[in-house]
Amino acid sequence: MNAWVLSSAFPACPAHSTAVSSPTPTVNVCSSSQVAFHHHDNPFVPEVVKAVDSLNSEFQAVDNLVACNTTRVLRAFRTARVGSHYFGGSTGYGHDEAGGREALDQAFAHIVGSESAIVRSQFFSGTHAITCALFAILRPGDELLAVVGAPYDTLEEVIGKRDSHGLGSLKDFGVEYRELPLAEGGRLDWDALMGAVKPYTKCALIQRSCGYSWRQSLSVNEIGKAIKMIKVQNPSCLVIVDNCYGEFVENIEPPMVGADLIAGSLIKNPGGTIAPCGGYVAGRRSLVEAAAARLSAPGLGLECGSTPGNVMRAYFQGLFLAPQMVGEAIKGTFLIAEVMASKGYKVQPLPCVVRHDIVQAVQLGNRERLLAFCEAVQRSSPVGSFTKPVAGRTPGYASEVIFADGTFIDGSTSELSCDGPLRDPFTVFCQGGTHWTQWGLVLGEILKVI
Ligand SMILES: Cc1ncc(COP(=O)(O)O)c(C=O)c1O
Repeated sequence: MNAWVLSSAFPACPAHSTAVSSPTPTVNVCSSSQVAFHHHDNPFVPEVVKAVDSLNSEFQAVDNLVACNTTRVLRAFRTARVGSHYFGGSTGYGHDEAGGREALDQAFAHIVGSESAIVRSQFFSGTHAITCALFAILRPGDELLAVVGAPYDTLEEVIGKRDSHGLGSLKDFGVEYRELPLAEGGRLDWDALMGAVKPYTKCALIQRSCGYSWRQSLSVNEIGKAIKMIKVQNPSCLVIVDNCYGEFVENIEPPMVGADLIAGSLIKNPGGTIAPCGGYVAGRRSLVEAAAARLSAPGLGLECGSTPGNVMRAYFQGLFLAPQMVGEAIKGTFLIAEVMASKGYKVQPLPCVVRHDIVQAVQLGNRERLLAFCEAVQRSSPVGSFTKPVAGRTPGYASEVIFADGTFIDGSTSELSCDGPLRDPFTVFCQGGTHWTQWGLVLGEILKVI
């Protein structure tokens, strides 16, 4: 087991260290002779049983993390005085909103440690929220610096790294772009970062999660270290963190270590698997207002935009559920890594290594295996188990991509799902899950076919 064990990486809650007990791990329920049913009843294949048995301390550390983050969420809900009268939603301009929109923004800002936040159904996706954040800051002649290698595929056309055909990329508006390649081993190149920020670098983009790269995701403390290095070189350079897949994976968030803006999707971690759509931008008040103006229009501000009542309720409830759902997803990554590594596949992150996002990458080596893996996941999903995922063109992506997402919310990757671009080394990226036990079952199906 890696020496960097989770119990030291997930410290007790800063404010409630004594309140967080170490709950009895539930991981042995199906795995040993003390259980209430016979071994032949075990729903898991032997490889999964073995992996589950070895992951006791990791699962316990995740439960501890869930308790810490739930404490923070409950405190934020208490401060924002969340009540059922906020679930009513609004129509039209949203001017007659009963206060739910503001309470949600306030609670979200409290949770991530920012001055302000805008949480809205009108963000199409994470890419859209990040785009609003980028356009909020950057003006013609400015430079954007991507700090951790290439940004996520769907940002290529936003930046103008890939031709956006005159549709209004940052490049079309005269914004320059530069990228710091990753260092060996898929790490941020700290030495190069030391001299990378120029006086005209207006904005640095830090991607917390790995995206479709074989790279290590960043811890929040590493993000804080990078921000310090950037600001030492140019104090007026603003830092945006692409926070997709990182929310609630640690007990601190990037604004707490100096990020000026963060952005992400509500059909990933902070939607708690039940938010039906939307995204968020959080950070410094003036910058959040500028991002809101990009989402809507200058002058409309934050007090505009309607959201139906059932959606408002799902946002509050999803945010409450998010720490738990993220915990289940993290347990899933441990299980996948343990089982697939035991079969000789290269995995990132390595088994038992502390997690910084909910994504588990597995190198499958060829197209057939990637397709078979995704088909097995789809077959084991609650929705559309009878369908076969096929690789194809998806808006925003240059490569063919395959997605297995038998999910209740279309494309939701906080629910159990996997996907990958059809390019060498044919890596599948697994994420999400409302219960780790589903990953246990899915892995059994996967092992039958690859
Ligand atoms: C790191 C990262 N950033 C941004 C995105 C884009 O998010 P969305 O698909 O919600 O646009 C993704 C999607 O997987 C991602 O992994």
